[in-house]
Amino acid sequence: MFKVEKIRKDFPILNRKVNGKPLVYFDNAATSQTPQIVIDSIVDYYSNYNANIHRGVHTLSQEATSAFEEARIKIQKHFNAHKSHEIILTSGTTHSINLVANGFSSLLKKGDEVIVSTLEHHSNIVPWQMLCKRTGAILKVIPISLKGELIMDEYETLLSNKTKLVFVNHVSNALGTINPIKQIIDKAHEFGAAVLIDGAQAAPHIKPDVQQLDCDFYTCSAHKICGPTGVGMLYGKEEWLNKLPPYQGGGEMIAEVTFKKTTYADLPHKFEAGTPNISGGIAFGIALDYMNAIGLENIAAYENELLIYGTQKLLEIEGLKIYGTSKNKASVISFNIEEIHPYDIGSIIDKLGIAVRTGHHCTQPIMDFYKIPGTIRSSFAFYNTKEEIDIFVEAVKRAKSMLL
Ligand code: ALA
Repeated sequence: MFKVEKIRKDFPILNRKVNGKPLVYFDNAATSQTPQIVIDSIVDYYSNYNANIHRGVHTLSQEATSAFEEARIKIQKHFNAHKSHEIILTSGTTHSINLVANGFSSLLKKGDEVIVSTLEHHSNIVPWQMLCKRTGAILKVIPISLKGELIMDEYETLLSNKTKLVFVNHVSNALGTINPIKQIIDKAHEFGAAVLIDGAQAAPHIKPDVQQLDCDFYTCSAHKICGPTGVGMLYGKEEWLNKLPPYQGGGEMIAEVTFKKTTYADLPHKFEAGTPNISGGIAFGIALDYMNAIGLENIAAYENELLIYGTQKLLEIEGLKIYGTSKNKASVISFNIEEIHPYDIGSIIDKLGIAVRTGHHCTQPIMDFYKIPGTIRSSFAFYNTKEEIDIFVEAVKRAKSMLL
């Protein structure tokens, strides 16, 4: 039995009211809420051992360094990376993807091909377009079906010996589709291509094993998994991280600097120039501890119940259409009602205390595919309840009756 009422007590924000109504927070795909234990870890850092890391012999610096490096090991264990130095602490998924895309500038040449999917967030499209512009490589796109699933046969026809990189998300942020990433990775490897998996939307629901998946890169942001904003991680196989040049120059990422020449630090520091988000990194580790204590399988099973319940309830509304109907879905429901603009529904239900995201969700190619300006997206987390879904569905009905 999933103890949601007990879990809700861990999240102070869930007690607040919005426009005089109890908050119903269904914008978890944009950012998850933060449990008290994670908030406390940030307060503890700034109250008791705020210092720069890897630099000082003094006690505070040593305490901060150990806590930060302990977090790296927690992240390594969570994703089952072989070595802790294969985990780079970044500011989030966007930073991680740009780091890899920038690194490949020196490894690609004109005429090489890279493959992206229609389901990607702009952050997993634009950095690769910029890479193609710099190198003359060609961007190919895996199409999707009406259900919002990747068309795998088409993917296979795009692969060739020219393919150098494939980048897809594990879970679509706009539709919730869970992609068959193991199959995607294995097929790419048959052609010697490297694969980057954007795990930003998967991490809150799925515990990926990067060694079993055999992906070359995997990335996510802490703020989607109960951690703070401004911190995330990049997993890269050691051999790839050694091949890629540093992304940014600065302190901490060097071995030796003279005006003639600079040599770079070993992994992971080569990719961690400047003072990192120290409290954020530590809190990221605490957030993973928190999620693991509940259990990712338990979280996913409960969220799936919410997904099924929410889907049934919403479909009772006449004229409502759900986008993204794959059987294999995370707890995201994107929908529209007849000709009503998503923004109008979002604004009305906000007055009733309900938070959802409206718009194109940084996935304009998906919206273009469905020929719509955007959707209303409700995304559920393990601290949401069926009662909240009832409140939400009633609010959507009310908004519909006001707008039609
Ligand atoms: N990528 C986040 C979302 O889907 C911000 O809302």
